[in-house]
Amino acid sequence: MAFPTETVYGLGADAFNPVALANIFAVKKRPYFDPLIIHIAELSDLELISEGINENVLSLAGKFWPGPLTVVLPKKQAVPDIVTSGLSTVAVRMPAHPIALDLIRRSGTPIAAPSANRFGFLSPTLPLHVEKQLPEIDYLYDGGACMLGIESTIVEINDETFTILRQGAISEQEISKVLPLLKVNNKKKKKDNYRSPGLLKSHYSPGKPLFIIEKSDNLPANSGFISFRTPLNKTNAKRIEILTVKGDLNEAAVNLFAALHRLEESDVSRIYAEAVSEIGIGIAIMDRLRKASYQYSL
Ligand code: TXA
Ligand code: MG
Repeated sequence: MAFPTETVYGLGADAFNPVALANIFAVKKRPYFDPLIIHIAELSDLELISEGINENVLSLAGKFWPGPLTVVLPKKQAVPDIVTSGLSTVAVRMPAHPIALDLIRRSGTPIAAPSANRFGFLSPTLPLHVEKQLPEIDYLYDGGACMLGIESTIVEINDETFTILRQGAISEQEISKVLPLLKVNNKKKKKDNYRSPGLLKSHYSPGKPLFIIEKSDNLPANSGFISFRTPLNKTNAKRIEILTVKGDLNEAAVNLFAALHRLEESDVSRIYAEAVSEIGIGIAIMDRLRKASYQYSL
């Protein structure tokens, strides 16, 4: 069943039912090496899923849950290997959406859910986006638009360091404040690409070429333009998506995937997006744009 969370729509199944979990991979055409996030509604459910629940984990949960933070922890043996792609760790979060929380509680089990899109393509922030990419699924819970519009921040912690595996609404600085004794680990290991495909260079693709640009006044005919500025920079684009009227990047993040979906559906043949400054949520926005444009930027 697809259901809304505050970040994006998820495609959920009982986290302890390997057959239902296999269906998620099949529907998304998702490779088995890409592990799923388990969603819980009560802190006490964390014990069903993970080991190593210490003061640091409880501090993060206390500060950011329910909310857009996914924590990677040592896995309990009971968690099926298909959820974690055979890794010894498991990713967990408590979503801040009443429908998601209600669904988990009423199911009586934690729910494993990736974003409800085909692997590698745009994330869904509206029910319509799910229907477009996954018409074959059994159920879609219509909860309207997602409040944040960008996937959760993923953080892996150990006794000395923490590593951001995917940028999201919660920043490294905010996490640092809650874990003052842990150092930030910025060294990217080669194997990280396998640990978190959020770190893959190409992802979130809007089925047509996308480019990040500085100037918008001389675009090819038939282009779509994504703008983050008010007033709008001069442009000759055929279709224009203004992601924020207030110049507020949080508002832009909410609208980002919906604008990309509209341009994907439209008659433009190329999409151009303005670069934004990489502060706050701007870091996550640029991360998504770079991955969406990666194959065209070589
Ligand atoms: O906001 C979100 O996180 C949304 C909503 C539905 O909760 N979910 C989401 O799931 O974005 P998905 O599957 O599209 O992205 C999950 C990411 C993947 O990049 C996966 O590799 C990473 O989480 N991940 C899952 N388990 C992991 C683990 N044990 N270690 C490292 N990364 C992991
Ligand atoms: Mg995804």
